[in-house]
Formats: sequence, structure tokens, C-alpha cells
Amino acid sequence: MAVRHERVLISLDPPYRLGDQDTTFNFIGWAEVDDLDDPGIRLTLNGVEVPVRSQPAPHVADVFPGITAATIFARVDFPALFRGVTPEEPFLLNAVVTSGARTRPFEYEVSEAWAQAVFGRPVRRKRTPPEHLQIRVTGAAAGQFHVTGRKVAEQIAAILERGGAPLQQHRKILDFGCGPGRVISSIKEMHPDAELFGSDIDGEAIGWARANLQDIGDFRVNGPNPPLPFADESFDLIYSISIFTHLPEDMQHGMLAELRRILKPGGVLLTTKLNPEAYELPDDVRAKGLNDGFVYWGDADATEGLPGFYRLAYHTESYVRRVWADYFDVLHVGSHDLNNTQDAVLMRRPKSGRGFLGGLFKARGPKASA
Ligand SMILES: C[S@@+](CC[C@H](N)C(=O)[O-])C[C@H]1O[C@@H](n2cnc3c(N)ncnc32)[C@H](O)[C@@H]1O
Repeated sequence: MAVRHERVLISLDPPYRLGDQDTTFNFIGWAEVDDLDDPGIRLTLNGVEVPVRSQPAPHVADVFPGITAATIFARVDFPALFRGVTPEEPFLLNAVVTSGARTRPFEYEVSEAWAQAVFGRPVRRKRTPPEHLQIRVTGAAAGQFHVTGRKVAEQIAAILERGGAPLQQHRKILDFGCGPGRVISSIKEMHPDAELFGSDIDGEAIGWARANLQDIGDFRVNGPNPPLPFADESFDLIYSISIFTHLPEDMQHGMLAELRRILKPGGVLLTTKLNPEAYELPDDVRAKGLNDGFVYWGDADATEGLPGFYRLAYHTESYVRRVWADYFDVLHVGSHDLNNTQDAVLMRRPKSGRGFLGGLFKARGPKASA
């Protein structure tokens, strides 16, 4: 998608999984450094520092011109490294590389046999979906699936708190468009007493979540249009990260009305939008976005494994405050405050039926102004 990515300044190479044979493992990569004579690269594994060898890596500048980089090499004998350590469960191997002021985390799922060999007993493990499912929802499989999910979950909690509807206050929660469970896993850690549900059109992602995240929530496949497989007034909170950023306008109206149906009166919906002003877009797409307040970019790149309608959509704040207000009270519209560069939209289903019929009967075409 057309977001501006940070330059990759520290890299450890894949695979981000440790199999049965890997209780001794070579970490190999490179990092941008300030001083080649004193590169100052550090690597910790679940908080334990390991020695790193490095040497100048001039080839990196061929790909990232102007960068001074050094290689990273560390050979780690895990049974020795973690001797006497009680693993945190569910266990994930967290590597953190720092060089000067730069820090980058990498996470590695371990196999059952690896955990048994390293810790001498069975250990509950954090599961990570296969690479193609990670790429489908985040555009990358760079060893950061859970850390980005945790960050989004923390942003959700902060926005809810500021909006006067703290996460802990909600009992029955839906992650609408959950994919293979990037965010819901962290929501569970932060609010273990909640009853969590996830739903998505992607049957493969939901199949993976059902097989691997049974202790986290109840996962269901939904169709691209209503109805969703939930009864009226089921949820206290629905959050939906990077869904309305991908759908055509008529589908958005259908889903807004449907999410309203399954939210309890007074329940909260937190979703995201993209601001057409903040991205590099073709001139006509950008102009339409700014003029109408909404644009669906149907020529944006398709995503492998998802239907053709799944492209990119942009909303201005004033569009959301005017058009989505037909379904919900709009409490907060943020700027780059959720899921990397997306804007949070926090809404509440009114306690009465006010505004709903307006939403159903209003014209659906582009609006005259943003
Ligand atoms: C960018 S991904 C985000 C996934 C997840 N929310 C996250 O943040 O990791 C968008 C997700 O929306 C799902 N999706 C698209 N249209 C949908 C719809 N009509 N109903 C439910 N899910 C939908 C896609 O299958 C995909 O999993």
C-alpha cells in the first residue's frame, strides 16, 4: 500500500522460525552504524545479551546509498544461553538489535521440539502465521508480526481510555477484519477476562486462527456484505483495523449499518481511515479524495489471496464526521495515531435509534464537499 515506509536500517536475515535442528543458530545481518571502528552493535535474546562480531559491510551502500553499515554475526547455543532461565509463556524468541540510537526487534517462533530441547520440558509457544498470511495483512513478513500487533493493541487501549471508554470496561469484543489474529492476541494479553471474537472474509486466515489461537477467541468467516454471523446487540466494543481503508463506498455503508446492528446501544466502534492528503497518490485520485471527501482507488495494487474489491480507500475527517455520523456518534478522529500511519475513528452507537434511518435512506453518491 502507498504508505511511506521507514528505511530499513537494521536487518537480521530470515527465516524467523527456529526448527528442531536449530538449538544452535547463526544470526546474520547488518546494521547502519555511526563509526566503523567502533560499530557498537548489541544483540539481546529475551533480555540476555550475546556477543556479536561485526566488520564493515560496504555492499549495503549499493542498495541504500550513503549508509555506513557493518555486518552482524552471532552464533548462539540456546541450551547454554538459557540454562536456569524460566521461559515466559507463551514463549516467543525476541531478538533486539541496537546500534547507536537505532533499535529493531525481530521475533522467532520456535517449534515444540526446539522448546523441549532448550528448556528440558514442554513449553507453551506463541504462534505466528505462515509468511504469506502475514504479508497479506501487513505487506511484510520481517519478524515483527507480534510486536506490531502489540503496538496497535496499546494504541487501541490509549484511544479508548482518552475517549472515556477504557478497554477493561468492555466484556464482549469483536475484532472485525481480524486476519490471522495479529492484534487480538495482544488484546487477550491486556484484557484476559474479555470474551473475544474475530471475523474476516479470508477463510484461510480464519482457518489458521481457529487451529492455532483457540485459547484466544472464537473466529468466524463472514461474507463481504452483510449479514455478519452475529446476533443483534452482541458486542460492547468492535475494533476494525485497516478495513474501511480498503472497501468501496457502498460496501462501507452496508458494513457500518451492520456493525451498528451487532453493537449494543451505547457500544463503541473503533476503526481506521487514510487521509488522502497524507499519501502519494495519482493526481486524479487525490483530487477526488480532497474534493468529495472520499475516494476508492480501484486501480491500486490487488492483494494476493483477497477479492478484487479489496483495494485502497481514503476519507477526509469532515467526510467521516458528516457521513458516518448517520450511523454513529463520532467521538474522535485522529491523525496517524493508529496502525502505523492510519487515522483512528472512534464512534459510539447512540443509546436511542437517532440518526439510523437517515443513514439508510441518504443518497450514496459522492458528496458535494469534503
Ligand atoms: C490490512 S488487513 C488487516 C488485518 C488485521 N485487522 C490487522 O490489523 O492485522 C485487512 C483485513 O480486512 C479483511 N477484510 C476485507 N474486507 C472485509 C469484510 N468485508 N469483512 C471482513 N473482513 C474484511 C481482509 O481479509 C484482511 O484480513
